[in-house]
Amino acid sequence: MLGNNYRKTKIFPKDFYWGSGTSAYQVEGGIENNDWSKAYRDGRVPVCGLACDHYRRYEEDFATAKTLGHNAHRLSVEWARIEPEEGKYDQEAIMHYRQVLQSLHQQKLKPFVTIWHFTLPLWFSQSGGFERADSPEIFARYCTNVVKELGDLCGHFSTMNEPNVFGSNGWLRGTWPPFKRFALTDMISITNSGRQYEAKATKYLSSVFIYFRVMKNLARAHNAAYKAIKKISPQTEVSVVKHVIVFASTYNPFYIIKAWAANYFWTHKFMRRVYKHCDSIGLNYYFYTQFGDRRVWRKTDMDWNFAPDHIYDALMMLSRYKKPLFVSEGGLADTLDTGRSEYITRQIEGVWLAIQAGVDVRGHLYWSLLDNYEWALGFAKRFGLIEVNYETQERTIRPSAYVYKKICEDNGIVE
Ligand code: BGC
Repeated sequence: MLGNNYRKTKIFPKDFYWGSGTSAYQVEGGIENNDWSKAYRDGRVPVCGLACDHYRRYEEDFATAKTLGHNAHRLSVEWARIEPEEGKYDQEAIMHYRQVLQSLHQQKLKPFVTIWHFTLPLWFSQSGGFERADSPEIFARYCTNVVKELGDLCGHFSTMNEPNVFGSNGWLRGTWPPFKRFALTDMISITNSGRQYEAKATKYLSSVFIYFRVMKNLARAHNAAYKAIKKISPQTEVSVVKHVIVFASTYNPFYIIKAWAANYFWTHKFMRRVYKHCDSIGLNYYFYTQFGDRRVWRKTDMDWNFAPDHIYDALMMLSRYKKPLFVSEGGLADTLDTGRSEYITRQIEGVWLAIQAGVDVRGHLYWSLLDNYEWALGFAKRFGLIEVNYETQERTIRPSAYVYKKICEDNGIVE
């Protein structure tokens, strides 16, 4: 894949963003009023509890990110903290996030804020969440309030994280709230998002139809939020964060058609609905799969193919929307940290090659700064540049974090 373009030293454009990310529920701790906390009280997902206690330790964590050469940081705000009851905004929570953003500025880390990263306040999820016909307006109102309150401290907001992952885990596979499932999806599912929970999910054919409705509402929600934000703050950059699976194929025509259909279903169907309302697009890349492939892949701790360089294909896929792109997530679970340095380096090479091919990529944010709550898989999977001891909350920087630090400080790969 590297072909003639292979050069050892790979310098990135000036002002490229380098850093990492987290999301509120996965790291903050102490959130009890959203759908995921209800799910653990109901025994349907692992307990999240204090997580990384990042709600109180954010300053220390950002200071560490700074020492690791980062110049940007992605985080999300928790909807259930900000709007704990419908239409009521919690000033204390807002103040907290203002302090968080101020702390990022002090560390000279450019903030990328995701307004909604998977978890829903109970009042919204229990009244139907994104199944509701008026969910786009409810979402747009929340997003606008977040930008009103935090917009002076942050120039870049993503409305939502990975709508397709949210929809498919919630309504096709039934591993995430609201745990609705269509059994046949087992045949097409290529990832493990918590198989042990699938058996408990309600199985209805209707969940497929609801899935399509939810996906439509999510696209409408993004578009409504974009327009409402632009009305109050035209200079704010608004993006969507899209999970892209690269479905490739061998030369077998059947697999070519299958890959085309899978890419359309997973990536382009949603993107076509929203790209006109995006100033930029965030790419979350984890998966490459080739239909008809007989290779035996090396695996990450998530049992996902170790294919970091194929981020190139994911960037090429999104480049058709002709918007600036940034890698909002890319990383792996690797408890022993034996593959992370290679993974990161090869991933950065893939990003560099896409830039050489003319794609406008503005940043790379490794997932994740800290080990964290990996949704229905609990705390066992370790994505962090920084290891977290959940008993003591002690942080230990992994060796691979220094490999990434060198890349950040060199603005690329210098050999
Ligand atoms: C999500 C993260 C998650 C990561 C690893 C992404 O799908 O945005 O919340 O932890 O992948 O699975």
